[in-house]
Amino acid sequence: MDFKKYMDDRKLLVNNFLEKRTAKKGISRVDDAMLYSLLAGGKRLRPMLLMAAADAVGGNGYNYLSVACGLEMIHTYSLIHDDLPIMDNDDYRRGRLTNHKVYGEALALLAGDGLLTLAFEVMLEQKNVSPDLLIETIKEVAMCAGNYGMVGGQVLDLDSEGQQITQEEMRTLHEAKTGALFIAAIRSGARMAGAKPEELLAMTHFAELFGLAFQITDDIMDVESTQEEMGKAAGSDAKLKKATYVTLYSMEGAKALAAKTLEEALECLEVFGAKAEPLREMTRMLYNRKN
Ligand code: IPE
Ligand code: IPE
Ligand code: MG
Ligand code: MG
Ligand code: MG
Repeated sequence: MDFKKYMDDRKLLVNNFLEKRTAKKGISRVDDAMLYSLLAGGKRLRPMLLMAAADAVGGNGYNYLSVACGLEMIHTYSLIHDDLPIMDNDDYRRGRLTNHKVYGEALALLAGDGLLTLAFEVMLEQKNVSPDLLIETIKEVAMCAGNYGMVGGQVLDLDSEGQQITQEEMRTLHEAKTGALFIAAIRSGARMAGAKPEELLAMTHFAELFGLAFQITDDIMDVESTQEEMGKAAGSDAKLKKATYVTLYSMEGAKALAAKTLEEALECLEVFGAKAEPLREMTRMLYNRKN
C-alpha cells in the first residue's frame, strides 16, 4: 500500500471538508478567529485515525467525515485555549502566531467556544450512520472532550505545575488530556463502521496506548525539537515547570517508554490483519517524530 498517498488523500479530504463546511459564516468577526486556527494546517491526526480505524474493521473511513472533522474542531479549540496567557501562554501554533496574539484574548476565548459548539452541529450532520449509533458516538465524543476527559486532563496538567507527581498520576493526566480525544476518534471510526464488541475493545486498548505514546513524544519534542520543526515554541514545559514524562523518567527513560508503548499499541492491532496497515503506519510515525 502507498501509505503516503493514503495520508495525502485523506488530509486533502479533511481540509476540503473543513473549508467548505465553514464557508457559511455567522454574524460576527469570531468566524475569522475560528478559521485562522482551524485552517492553519496541523497534522489532522484525529480525523485520519478515525478514518483509518473505520477502514481497519472493514468499513470505509471516507463515509464519516462529519464526525472526523467535528473532532478536529474540538481539538483546534483545545489548542487555542491551551495557548492562552492564563494557560500555557504560548506565542506560536501551527507555524503562525497564536490566536490571542492576533485577535486578542477575548476573541480567542470565543473562537474556542465557537469551534467547540460548531463541532457538535457538524457531527450531528453525519450521514451513513443510524440515528441511534450516531447518538451513542457523539455522546462518547462529548464525554472524552469534557470534564471526564480532555478538559479534566488539562486541569490535572495545570495542577501539576511545579509539583512532584507519581508515575500513576502522570499516566492518568496524559490519558485524559491527550488520550481521550484519540480514544474518541478511534472508537468513533470503528463503531460507526460496525465494529464487533471484541474489535471495539481491541481498538480501545490501541487508542489508549497510541494517545499515551503521542503525549510522551510531545513531551520529548518540547525538549529536543525546534520551533521550525514543530510550528510551536520549544521549551514551553520547562518554562512553566510542568510535570512531564521527561521530568519524571529522564529523557532516556521517556524514549524507552515511548518505544515500549508503541510496541504494545501495535500488538493490539494484530487481530485486524492487513486492513489495519494504515493505523500501523500512523503508529510507527510516532517513533522519533519531529512534529
Ligand atoms: C498538539 O496536538 C497537542 C497535543 C495533544 C500534544 P497535535 O500535535 O496533534 O497538533 P496539530 O493538530 O498537528 O497542530
Ligand atoms: C495540551 O498539551 C494538550 C491539549 C489538550 C491541548 P500541551 O500543552 O503539551 O500541548 P502543546 O505542546 O502546547 O501542543
Ligand atoms: Mg498545555
Ligand atoms: Mg501547550
Ligand atoms: Mg506539549
